[in-house]
Amino acid sequence: MKKIVIAIDGHSSGGKSTMARELAREIGYTYIDTGAMYRALTLYALRQGLFAGGRIEEDKLRAALPGIHISFRMNEQTGRTDTWLNGVNVEKEIRGMDVAAWVSPLAALPFVRRDLVARQQEMGKEKGIVMDGRDIGTVVFPEAELKIFVTASPEVRAQRRLDEMRAKGETASFEEVLENVKKRDLIDSTRREGPLRQAGDALLLDNSAMSPAEQKVWLMEQYLKTINT
Ligand code: DC
Repeated sequence: MKKIVIAIDGHSSGGKSTMARELAREIGYTYIDTGAMYRALTLYALRQGLFAGGRIEEDKLRAALPGIHISFRMNEQTGRTDTWLNGVNVEKEIRGMDVAAWVSPLAALPFVRRDLVARQQEMGKEKGIVMDGRDIGTVVFPEAELKIFVTASPEVRAQRRLDEMRAKGETASFEEVLENVKKRDLIDSTRREGPLRQAGDALLLDNSAMSPAEQKVWLMEQYLKTINT
């Protein structure tokens, strides 16, 4: 059967990763969470103190990039892939509020985007991948055979994010999370390099009122349609 590239872009906490991960598992594709790569780099910068004084020490980050190794490895206990940074599992650390607060400004830096986009293109060159992010259908794989743009209202997304955080024992108020969601939307969609936008040939999915099961069925239908045409 022919292998394709499936690009899933959209706003933060829109449920992209869950859809993408499940589809990949069902059809035997590799799932790549590009947001986790920007988050891992942000964690690295935080740990190195590169956000001192409220700004990013760009020169130091640029110089460090070649030595920063980001990979995904299967976690046999959860059945999901975890994100590793320089040989250490950082899956939990990259999902916290401190990383969330810094990841958008870091992801807006052109040299960071160029570096991570090149890594993502390398990961997907054999096809057979489901990749989720913000610029997959527009910049990373503009030739992807199937492109989906996922969105939902900011309030719905903030509630989902809050539920996720509470399930992990983290605390935050709804207002705090909503503010972070809106702030990230704004930075992500107005940056010069690789802004978040729907590719002209992407299918739009507004899942504000859809259950995860309904989304799964919809996505599988799109995949089957694409490989059969
Ligand atoms: O999908 P996420 O919330 O884990 O993404 C974290 C941040 O990384 C988000 O603020 C936008 C950025 N990002 C990006 O700029 N480009 C991507 N391809 C993926 C994520």
